[in-house]
Amino acid sequence: MNEVASQAVERVIASTRQMPGALMPMLHGIQDALGYIPSEAVPPIAEALNLSRAEVHGVVTYYHYFRSEPPGRHVVQICRAESCKAMGSDALWSHACSKLGSDGHGVTKDGAFTVEPVYCLGLCAQSPAMTLDDKVHARVGIEKFDRLLAQSGGAA
Ligand code: FES
Repeated sequence: MNEVASQAVERVIASTRQMPGALMPMLHGIQDALGYIPSEAVPPIAEALNLSRAEVHGVVTYYHYFRSEPPGRHVVQICRAESCKAMGSDALWSHACSKLGSDGHGVTKDGAFTVEPVYCLGLCAQSPAMTLDDKVHARVGIEKFDRLLAQSGGAA
């Protein structure tokens, strides 16, 4: 973790440590700032909250949302929950992974994309749903996916 990241972690810890149930806001704050939760952030979080490192690590790894590695330059999240599955998100997922050269975990070899599953984006009535760089898109078929990707500037 470089100095800038370390300072960001310190700022988030200082601004959230007094909150009730501070661990989750702290983890969200760090991921919002850095795009992931560096392993080096676990000890100061544990110390600030009087938790064990194992407890903090356990929460980071339990939730799909939290990343332990830096994401790619673009992040694609495809909803794989029931409503979206019923409307074709499995095909969308396969297409996205194939097109971007992702196995659905971590960053593509060229560092351009992270493809991740999510489990409901609150757009069930407009399935299938996805996000691209934190922007939510509804009724995404394969053609729309390719168009969004091209517009992102990161098209494979
Ligand atoms: S199930 Fe996909 S948005 Fe709710």
